[in-house]
Amino acid sequence: MCGIMGVVAKRPVSQLLLDGLKKLEYRGYDSAGVATLVNGNIERRRAEGKLEKLGDLIKERPLPGTVGIGHTRWATHGKPSEQNAHPHATNLVALVHNGIIENYQELKQELEKEGYHFNSETDTETIAVLLTRSLEQQKTPEQAVAEALPRLKGAFSLAILFGHRDEMLIGVRRGSPLVVGYGQGEMYLGSDAIALASLTNKVTYLEDDDWVVLTPKGAQFYNRGKLVSRVVKQTAFSGELIGKGEFRHYMLKEIHEQPSVVGNLLKHYLQPQTRLPHFPSLAGQVDWNKIQRLNIVGCGTAYLSGMVAKYWFEKYAKIACNVDIGSEFRYREGCFIAGEATLGISQSGETIDTLGAIRYAKQQGQQTISLINVPESAMARESDVVVTTMAGPEIGVASTKAFTAQLTVLACLVIDAALKRHQLDVKTAQQLTAELLETPAILAQLLGKQDMIHKIAEKMTQAKDVLFLGRGVSYPLALEGALKFKELTYIHAEGYAAGEMKHGPIALIDDKVPVVVIAPNDYLLDKTLNNMEVVAARGGQVILISDRQGHERAKVGVHHRLEIPVNTHLINSPIIYALPMQMLAYQAAWLKGNDVDQPRNLAKSVTVE
Ligand code: G6P
Repeated sequence: MCGIMGVVAKRPVSQLLLDGLKKLEYRGYDSAGVATLVNGNIERRRAEGKLEKLGDLIKERPLPGTVGIGHTRWATHGKPSEQNAHPHATNLVALVHNGIIENYQELKQELEKEGYHFNSETDTETIAVLLTRSLEQQKTPEQAVAEALPRLKGAFSLAILFGHRDEMLIGVRRGSPLVVGYGQGEMYLGSDAIALASLTNKVTYLEDDDWVVLTPKGAQFYNRGKLVSRVVKQTAFSGELIGKGEFRHYMLKEIHEQPSVVGNLLKHYLQPQTRLPHFPSLAGQVDWNKIQRLNIVGCGTAYLSGMVAKYWFEKYAKIACNVDIGSEFRYREGCFIAGEATLGISQSGETIDTLGAIRYAKQQGQQTISLINVPESAMARESDVVVTTMAGPEIGVASTKAFTAQLTVLACLVIDAALKRHQLDVKTAQQLTAELLETPAILAQLLGKQDMIHKIAEKMTQAKDVLFLGRGVSYPLALEGALKFKELTYIHAEGYAAGEMKHGPIALIDDKVPVVVIAPNDYLLDKTLNNMEVVAARGGQVILISDRQGHERAKVGVHHRLEIPVNTHLINSPIIYALPMQMLAYQAAWLKGNDVDQPRNLAKSVTVE
């Protein structure tokens, strides 16, 4: 949700800013801009649309300067346009912003009364004008920032450039992430360490309410007016890890990474000798026997992995679960009982609604556990216990490897909980982990089935509506299949519990509606196939995804068949069946000529409510 870059150096910075913004484009891509100091004066280039447009503009009208800031936007206040694009500036100050200033209307009115004018519809411009007022009163940049911050409400991060101060930048963090990078005689600011990966792997993550003064020589950190020290960390990001490699898109690369991501996680979370789960971060912290009910919260795909986990936790560990969307959980004033814990699931660890849910659970006195992919994230810092999914950077806006990584770790957590609660014996637990250990090889086999998936996807591109059906653990997967399909192809898609079709959605079925039926060979197979036949009898174009036995049992009404090469188990079928869902959406979107990595209107890290 908006990417921020800043560089203070002794060499021209506009290309460095563009390169960094390219890596942050997953955070927003409706407009972009940069500002530098040219002979002490603030100069800007801004363009509506993708970063490429800004690059073209800078080629036409180069932007010199050795200090600068840049931004790639996902609009919140004010439509995507050049006028609303960041940086917002006066003649004294320019800034880029990620987040929301909740009280901007009030501040704007106050400043307008004093005669200040605004040129955009954004909340961001208020901060530029607020700083300008202090600078006009001869305050130093540091004093101006210190005065402005207590006036701002909301969660945000900022990079600020001051006129005639070509040796400094100021970065601010409240809620939204910001990273300082250390170069040779130059310093950087970025929304994440990935943006800085080609420049440095020495970074400092700002803490909440920190602000930092950067000069080419180093960084000074302040928190609530006091000078503070912050640790420098080494990141493991390399250009290779965050590039597309031989793949057409990040999403395709990330789909292909799944066998190794799942394999590495199993190596990490299963003991080599016993093949039983071990979670060092849970030891002495989480007592599964004391948990009376588990609230699982997340947004988007992460919420759906939580839905799968509910089936597993209740069946194997006998822990009652409530699964909630982050934005609902935090405001619905649910009834809690003693001994509840909340498990937040998030790839970024930044999604404001999931973070809000974790904070809310804490206020209710619950233990909070987070399952996240970015260990330096706000959720990791604010949760009592952290478990990581170690999937590496996920750049494609539609989540793929983060989902299967979440499912893999959740499956291991469930087995761990079931053992501790004496709901599973060691032998049965080992049978389950043996199934999990088969998963990476099955995923790799499935990656070889792309031709078949391509043919089916081609047919689906003609549809106006698509339905995805499943039962049990395949029901959340049907929701995930539909979510992936609609966000990438812009074709209406709905996921439904197969048994619920007859209560309404069956009215949608005709011979133009593709219906993807997810039918692993589990205790619900026959029931799912019966639901499928009801759809087929009404002309629905059934696409059956099942293993050989499933296909043999489904004699009639199937238009297209996608065979999973082996018989799966309840503990690994969601991980395995996720892959064809991702590929169907990917292929159909690509065939339609859509931007697969950056679908319209979306952003990856959603840091607004
Ligand atoms: C956005 C992304 C989704 C993601 C969701 C939650 O909507 O487009 O792919 O599932 O946010 O993100 P999180 O980082 O919390 O997993």
